[in-house]
Amino acid sequence: MSSTFQLDTATSRANPTPTPMKRLTVPAIRKRKEGGVTAEPIVMLTAYTARQAQLLDAHCDVLLVGDSLGQVIYGLPSSVPVTLDMMVAHGAAVVRGSYHSVVIVDMPFGSYEASPQQAFENASRLLKETGCAGVKLEGGEAMAPTVEFLVKRGIPVIGHVGLTPQAVNVLGGYNARGRSDAEAAKIVSDAKALDAAGAFAIVIEGVVEPIAIDVTKAVACPTIGIGASAQCDGQVLVTEDMLGMFERVPRFVRRYEEIADTISAAAERYATDVRSRAFPGVEQTYQPK
Ligand code: KIV
Repeated sequence: MSSTFQLDTATSRANPTPTPMKRLTVPAIRKRKEGGVTAEPIVMLTAYTARQAQLLDAHCDVLLVGDSLGQVIYGLPSSVPVTLDMMVAHGAAVVRGSYHSVVIVDMPFGSYEASPQQAFENASRLLKETGCAGVKLEGGEAMAPTVEFLVKRGIPVIGHVGLTPQAVNVLGGYNARGRSDAEAAKIVSDAKALDAAGAFAIVIEGVVEPIAIDVTKAVACPTIGIGASAQCDGQVLVTEDMLGMFERVPRFVRRYEEIADTISAAAERYATDVRSRAFPGVEQTYQPK
């Protein structure tokens, strides 16, 4: 039996919250939107490590262990090479580091498309081995039977429409979607199909704003935008993008920090100390006789 999601309470570093908070639930997130109205927008950020989860948890409703970790953590050219084992390891770390947010883990490319049965086998592994509350998968109408299959068997699902990065080889790049009438209509029908199949929320990525608004009005479940519209029912960003970790980020990303500069400056000061032999030693408190 796997125990990867057990909380390590042995060190204060692993368990810094003195009073664990009550964790939000999938039905609570779904209920944020009632009768087409979302009074309190859903706050979602990506998280890939336990420490990152600890820092983000209290401020978020949902932590997404995104397969964007392929590029952000592993330096891969796209999310296509990301494996289920990677998602299990990072998903378990994020669950260990959080008490409050709903943790959702992305199903990586190749782990769900072949059949609803394949999706169930791999999604159930994610739930068992990470302790996450649900999964996210990309694709619209074609994936609706799979979403229904998972939800009916106890696995909550977030859908993902518009720009779907796992399909980069078909799309030919990461450009915004929905610019032609046909593309726009397809995005709306994709979202409706996922909603009808039981997705508890839908990520809308990289679409022109009127389409994001149309989708948000057309579906009963909450929409979560990324490069979509402020009128979505919630927003998600890749945390490293929002922190200014990379020079090149999509145009829609709002940066709240310039963390790359801070890290680089700290490393420079450290290197100067080491090279000038100014690095402090451990104070000697024990005097050998
Ligand atoms: O993988 C990811 O981080 C995502 C978000 C950008 C929505 O899917």
